[in-house]
Amino acid sequence: MKLNNEQKKFVEDLLGKMTLEEKVGQLNQESPSIVGGFDVPFEELIEMLTDGRISQEEFGRIMSNATRDYHEDDIRAGMVSSFLESDPRKINELQKIAVEETRLGIPLLIGFDVIHGLSSVYPIAIAEAGSFDDELMEKTARMAAKESRAHGVCWNFAPMLDVARDSRWGRVSEGPGEDPFLASRFARAKIRGLQNGSKKGEDYVAACTKHFVAYSACEAGRDYNTTSMSISQLYNVYLPPFRAAMEEGACSAMASFNDLNGVPCTVNPYTLRDILKGEFGLEGFVVSDANAIKECVTHGIAEDNMDAGIKALNAGLDIDMGTRIYYNHIAEAVKAGKVSMETLDEAVRRILSVKVWLGLFENPYVDEAVIAAYEESIPAEHRELCLKAAEESVVLLKNEDDILPLRKDKKFTLVGELADRADEVVGAWALGWKVEDCVCIKDGLKEAGAQFDYYPVCGPEGEINEEELKAAISSDSDIVIAVVGEYKSMSGEASSKADITLPGQQRKMLSELKAAGKTVIAVLMNGRPLALGWEAENIPAIIEGWHLGIQMGTAIAKVIFGEINPSGKLTSTFSSMNGQEPLYYNHPNTGRPGSKSKFTSKYLDAPVEPCFPFGYGLSYTSFEYSDLKLTETDSEIQASFTLKNTGKCDGTEVAQLYMQDVCATLVRPVKELKNYARISLAAGESRQVTLDLKKSDMGFYDNQGKYVFENGLFRIYVGGNSADVLMEEIRI
Ligand code: NOJ
Repeated sequence: MKLNNEQKKFVEDLLGKMTLEEKVGQLNQESPSIVGGFDVPFEELIEMLTDGRISQEEFGRIMSNATRDYHEDDIRAGMVSSFLESDPRKINELQKIAVEETRLGIPLLIGFDVIHGLSSVYPIAIAEAGSFDDELMEKTARMAAKESRAHGVCWNFAPMLDVARDSRWGRVSEGPGEDPFLASRFARAKIRGLQNGSKKGEDYVAACTKHFVAYSACEAGRDYNTTSMSISQLYNVYLPPFRAAMEEGACSAMASFNDLNGVPCTVNPYTLRDILKGEFGLEGFVVSDANAIKECVTHGIAEDNMDAGIKALNAGLDIDMGTRIYYNHIAEAVKAGKVSMETLDEAVRRILSVKVWLGLFENPYVDEAVIAAYEESIPAEHRELCLKAAEESVVLLKNEDDILPLRKDKKFTLVGELADRADEVVGAWALGWKVEDCVCIKDGLKEAGAQFDYYPVCGPEGEINEEELKAAISSDSDIVIAVVGEYKSMSGEASSKADITLPGQQRKMLSELKAAGKTVIAVLMNGRPLALGWEAENIPAIIEGWHLGIQMGTAIAKVIFGEINPSGKLTSTFSSMNGQEPLYYNHPNTGRPGSKSKFTSKYLDAPVEPCFPFGYGLSYTSFEYSDLKLTETDSEIQASFTLKNTGKCDGTEVAQLYMQDVCATLVRPVKELKNYARISLAAGESRQVTLDLKKSDMGFYDNQGKYVFENGLFRIYVGGNSADVLMEEIRI
């Protein structure tokens, strides 16, 4: 985000005209408050939903009839800077008040959670990053930006850049997985996609990188829980994607809910001022997470709301999401000298700068004709892009005896409630889709011309329907495709789990089908890496389908019938059993790495090895790596090798380069991803491939947050996943 001199002058002139109250108003974000339209208080309604007294559908129906307060008088008084909303006509109404009825006519910044698409929902981030296709990730972000802007949303609360190493944490689904290098490439692609659209076409939005920072390191994988770590770990693991996003010019960041080493990130001057705004040079602003300023009182770091507000603003937190604490207390705090006018001005300047960069002063309104077209149908090219993203994100985990792909004329039985749930394919945090646009797996198979009988039998919750199971077992086809996994509500925010094996009775269903002599193909539909020890041992073919978005069913059918040769890879390590978590490939070495001998770092009752490693994913063909050679230049190491497609069909391989700093002043990870490339080869074709490793990427951050490069011995690995690799050493 860069402003020219004229734009900077505009911001300064505007700031010069503002009263204290108007400045405070620019720090306030509102969302519609629910004020009525049902018989119980809103809080109780939420409790009723949580404890199951009303269903999600009933809750949705009540909410659609509820009365909302849009705080129009506050907007009119210049006390609202930003609004959380996605209804384009409502946005126009609110914007009109801000632009035409306030003293200074400052437009509203409309923010919304567009995490993996608005109407055109593409795969959840943990899946999409597994395409290892930066260009694709940029394109889907551009599509989301275009749809958001068309709806009046100009500030997307994405990308979520939390490097996540513990699959019990429900929000692993929203981020790009466990690796800081892949997360950084994902971050760059997403910022380019969201922010670099053509300024004329207005197909760009302000990105909001989140959650800053180390939110995913919550103890025991429990959402919102405390985090503590060394500065070196913070810098090497959790900060890199944010640094990358800032280098690409990201406009904003959201402070995370957690405390880091005892200081909640909402009021943390070290992370917000020193690192984010200082070292990383964020030119835009920082927003709190919902209600987070108030929660600093619960954390026990502020005595009351006013104290929390003062601490947050002084720490560099510019916009208050949802508590009205800035609105209620900051003018008084400035008058009392507890917040300086310079601090307030700095926050307002940052917010106004983003509004100017977005062109909101010239063009604040939504074109209702464009919206009408979206309401009619989503653009065909968006559907196509969602399909391509879904196809590239599918990971083939197991394919014993080449069971897959299936011939189309081969009849099979389809089981699993999830196979018929079009409303589940979009995953967590998808908010603007219509179920008519979603293709479930059953319909995808049907449209592909497949021959099958369908019995739901069971889903992620509830009992097995014995009648249906019996029918599935007695059907004449020996192949059963079982769609199993998690509902979308089982991952995402506040959805941590202590048991990450297949939920409900789904494993029992698989086991009974297997016991009946069926050849079972499991298609997983889930938001987190599951502990798949039993399935990996007992089920001959497994497709990891994640929540792939509106085109999930079509993409899965294409994979099953071989119209698409899978090329996706895992962005997170999969455990065999719960107790192995957190399990990640790039762990530091111990003095006693796990082995068969007794006094080594391992469990007595579980393997140390993963069920499926990071970077893993099969294809319908096979790839062979050979002849790894390293060449050193002044600035990089070039790893050259031969990659051969040794199978019978064309395919695409994600070739990966890892390194290990063998001896350093701090213990380093056993492996670190440092480059990758998607390479397509025809059957039988081989190619000489070179992956570069920049010397400037071979160092690490020490415990002062200083980047150091230490000469010595390095191991360089190449391969199709983090475990099966060729290795050469080099001394630098
Ligand atoms: C809470 C979530 O943590 C954050 O990711 C989201 O953007 C905000 N609420 C706004 O909905």
